[in-house]
Amino acid sequence: KNVGIIGCPFSGGQPKEGVDEGPIKMVEYGLIDQILEMGWNVEFDGHRKLTDLKPADDPNIGRLKKPRYVSRVTKAVADAVESNLRRGQLALTLGGDHSLALGTVSGTLSVYPEACLIWIDAHADINTPDTTESGNLHGCPVSFLLAVDDLIQKRVSEFSWLKPRLRPDKLVYIGLRDVDPPEKEILKKYGIKAFSMYHVDKYGIGKVVEMALDAVNPKRDLPIHLSFDVDALDPTVAPSTGTPVRGGLTFREGHYICEAIHETGLLVSVDLMEVNPSLEDEVSVFETVTVGCSLVRCCLGETLL
Ligand code: ARG
Ligand code: MN
Ligand code: MN
Ligand code: MN
Repeated sequence: KNVGIIGCPFSGGQPKEGVDEGPIKMVEYGLIDQILEMGWNVEFDGHRKLTDLKPADDPNIGRLKKPRYVSRVTKAVADAVESNLRRGQLALTLGGDHSLALGTVSGTLSVYPEACLIWIDAHADINTPDTTESGNLHGCPVSFLLAVDDLIQKRVSEFSWLKPRLRPDKLVYIGLRDVDPPEKEILKKYGIKAFSMYHVDKYGIGKVVEMALDAVNPKRDLPIHLSFDVDALDPTVAPSTGTPVRGGLTFREGHYICEAIHETGLLVSVDLMEVNPSLEDEVSVFETVTVGCSLVRCCLGETLL
């Protein structure tokens, strides 16, 4: 039981300040000790100095905002994840905004090309440089990761380090409820499996997780990368996040997902993203940071009994 924690105080993939404080607060609230108490060997050498990578000048490329900064940071994160995995650790990345998944998923797939990606989010984060309305790269990482020809052609040279290795049939979503129209087209076009909140209501979370695993990991033999955007949870549960959307996962549904994925024994890489301790009041911040910590603990095997 070895985990390497990559603290990523980064907000460059979206416009709101404070999401860079997410990993810092989770560690301040005692996450490292909690994981140690669960019997894990923890490697954590402090948070990454990602602002050092900020370019002096970073004009938009097309609609994309801060493309050079995001590219440099996510390249460094990819290398960190890869190195943790190669040393036999579970890679745990604390964000920071969800553009960081450009790095984390790339790092995982460079070590485990056969890995599947389970994306827990209110949003699909699959906009392309052409379809993004906001230009915020935290809404785009999945399209950059996908190994499909016509998305690859849209890529910007700034991200040439990133090898699009993710096959559409290895990706599954849970929790969606704010998907942009062009994103819906992309999901349909590539037949990407997605369980929205409608499906959670219809089948219950237990069945949804089982169906999600059946879709991307039918024999339960492939490594799993779990990318958890805290805004998948309902804003009453995780209010301090940059793009909250009503009608989300309950506290237990969120934790169940982490518990069930841990139970497979296949989890190699985990992201916990989009905790923004500068949004909302003190109680909201407390609830959001502590729920972030407890989701992580469930991924690492904490159980109720
Ligand atoms: N779809 C919107 C966009 O592309 C929102 C994305 C929100 N993403 C997130 N990781 N919170 O800008
Ligand atoms: Mn989201
Ligand atoms: Mn929207
Ligand atoms: Mn997201």
